[in-house]
Amino acid sequence: MTLADLRKEYRHASLNDADLIGDPISQFSRWLDEAIKAELAEPNAMSVATVDADGRPSSRIVLIKGTDQRGFIWYTNYASRKGQELAHNPHAALLFHWTELERQVRIEGRVEQLSAEENDQYFHSRPLGSRLGALASQQSQPIDSRAALEAQFDEAERLHGTAPARPAHWGGYLLRPQRIEFWQGRPSRLHDRLVFILQADGHWQQQRLQP
Ligand SMILES: Cc1cc2nc3c(=O)[nH]c(=O)nc-3n(C[C@H](O)[C@H](O)[C@H](O)COP(=O)(O)O)c2cc1C
Repeated sequence: MTLADLRKEYRHASLNDADLIGDPISQFSRWLDEAIKAELAEPNAMSVATVDADGRPSSRIVLIKGTDQRGFIWYTNYASRKGQELAHNPHAALLFHWTELERQVRIEGRVEQLSAEENDQYFHSRPLGSRLGALASQQSQPIDSRAALEAQFDEAERLHGTAPARPAHWGGYLLRPQRIEFWQGRPSRLHDRLVFILQADGHWQQQRLQP
């Protein structure tokens, strides 16, 4: 078996205009719910793609922590590589692939930081170890050794005990979507692709794309 021979037919489901519920954020929430109910591994994992000052892209997986009518939320370190790239260029792309459901969702838009109140509320809902970890790690910076990282964690624990405050460099991002595409695998590579593009007047224009 070579890589060129690895292929499958997609026949799990279909996606037609009549299947859609209202706006694309509600449709996304329905697909995410279905991925959670199907007990997929990490259904809330998504790729976040950003670009650097020279327009060179990079991507990484993060966990989505909320959706509402504004858009899509995740939490991270604002001083990380992605944080620095977003500070320079707030355009980003999110990608979900729910393999077993033969589904992909592509989301593009502008990103902004959440308010200090929202950040504090989520930070304090996290387990203590995660809160201390956020204090201990200068995400994306080099470090000499694993032992040095663990020493930074111990130091954070010693300084902050069981009630660490949220560090200013840690918080959430909200991506306000401008384009959302739903992809459902179909037989013979005739996949369903329905894309929603936000118009200047605030309504979503819907199109079917060729696979
Ligand atoms: C399943 C999974 C979930 C992750 N969730 C997060 C997350 O929610 N927030 C985060 O900052 N990094 C998360 N990471 C780590 C990121 O992929 C990445 O290593 C980190 O954010 C640093 O990226 P950067 O250097 O491009 O800023 C996750 C990684 C994996 C594999």
